Amino acid sequence: MENPFTHPLPLRLLCFFCCITLFLAFTDGEVEDATIKIMQDFSGYPASEPASFDILTSVSSLSVDDRSLQTQIDELALFSDAPAPSVTRVLYTDKDVSARRYIKNLMKLAGLSIREDAVGNIFGQWDGHETQLAGVATGSHIDAIPYSGKFDGVVGVLGAIEAINVLKRSGFKPKRSLEVVMFTSEEPTRFGISCLGSRLMAGSEALEKALQQTVDSQNVSFLDASRSAGYMRDHDDLSSVRMKKGSYSAFVELHIEQGPILEAEGVSIGIVTAIAAPASIKVDFEGNGGHAGAVLMPYRNDAGLAAAELALAVEEHVLETGSIDTVGTVGVIDLHPRAINSIPSKSHLEIDTRDIDEMRRNSVVEKIHQSAVAIAKKRSVILSGFEIVNQDPPALADETIIRAMEAASQQLNLTHRLMISRAYHDSLFMARVSPMGMIFIPCYKGYSHKPEEYASAEDIANGIKVLALTLAKLSLY
Ligand SMILES: *[C@@H]1O[C@H](CO)[C@@H](O)[C@H](O)[C@H]1NC(C)=O
Ligand SMILES: *[C@@H]1O[C@H](CO)[C@@H](O)[C@H](O)[C@H]1NC(C)=O
Ligand SMILES: [Zn+2]
Repeated sequence: MENPFTHPLPLRLLCFFCCITLFLAFTDGEVEDATIKIMQDFSGYPASEPASFDILTSVSSLSVDDRSLQTQIDELALFSDAPAPSVTRVLYTDKDVSARRYIKNLMKLAGLSIREDAVGNIFGQWDGHETQLAGVATGSHIDAIPYSGKFDGVVGVLGAIEAINVLKRSGFKPKRSLEVVMFTSEEPTRFGISCLGSRLMAGSEALEKALQQTVDSQNVSFLDASRSAGYMRDHDDLSSVRMKKGSYSAFVELHIEQGPILEAEGVSIGIVTAIAAPASIKVDFEGNGGHAGAVLMPYRNDAGLAAAELALAVEEHVLETGSIDTVGTVGVIDLHPRAINSIPSKSHLEIDTRDIDEMRRNSVVEKIHQSAVAIAKKRSVILSGFEIVNQDPPALADETIIRAMEAASQQLNLTHRLMISRAYHDSLFMARVSPMGMIFIPCYKGYSHKPEEYASAEDIANGIKVLALTLAKLSLY
């Protein structure tokens, strides 16, 4: 696809020349055509993309209402089941339902038309003047894991609504419609499934089926929880949540980095080029157990040691790739019966491995499997379970969107760098529906998923401006 944000030199010069005229045209649709005609006469080139010039001229008029935004962040944080400064907001709880109402109200105040799908993904649309074209979407999530902070996801939802307000205040009129999306349950807290809303949007029959049976830790079914929050009223069919590929021409998510790089380097904006592909695996070993004193070492088949050996094998296979982008973590090891004087008869491991290169990640998963088989044999334990819970592909950001985000940062005089997202986001799944991009802003010490999570008002405002300008460019494309 041709990049719409670079133009042949004569056009670029013309752009510079025409700034003032076009600024007037920008706020007054009536004179726009005349201006294009003048541009064409003047340059001898067809000015078929005058719209992207308009945006250039209006950059200084993009202003974020910092004070309202800070109030909104603080108010949203009050919908929480943990005492401040912690935030706990779990899917379909009363607090989540109140927070959803709060978001819908802000969307209404921004003049967006609101719809919700069967699982409570919320959409607020600003009609463009060419509604037959696929729209440009932006958004994130507002659910918060227990005892976390008030910025993860929230910046990308409140920020998206504010980006719309910024564009409206500047007098901008979108060509493609702009849509703010609040995704249901990015966090896996309640039903063990991350990015539930966006996975369903991207289309997953397996998940649609699984959700018919899924219960939370209190044995409340997904369907009942969903109904109590006002969704899934008509039927249990989740297929209505699916979105066709191409439903949006672009999707852009604003998010705190959740890592330390931007802050450490003093860079304002991170432009994400790829989201690492996560895989998670559950492994179970079974041995005979026995008395910790009575069973002599040669006669043991210790399921705990098999787990320990596999944990080290995970590290080894990850390091063997020689790539800094490959990571692996054994975050859970459970032993049974978990007594100091009893040889573990069962062990359970949960392994997370990620990479931006899917084949390399898959080969790590394969090697972990081979090791599990070999270790079981060597230690005479049974490999009673090896379940790949999910093995998602990585997502690459779209070139055109990357260039739009870069151009926006440049025009706003904001320092920026390209980077990889090692955490995953709803964008990982939106990439299956639409070309995708992500904007990162710095956060304090890279802290996230804890109450100390913090992003400054200035950094948030910068992110919102880049988002607003990027949306504007993409909407005119
Ligand atoms: C969970 O709920 C279902 C349906 O109400 C019931 O049949 C089942 O026994 C419950 N399970 C537990 C562990 O309470
Ligand atoms: C960016 O910097 C240039 C040069 O210093 C200046 O002319 C321009 O107004 C600045 N733009 C913004 C949006 O601050
Ligand atoms: Zn998030």
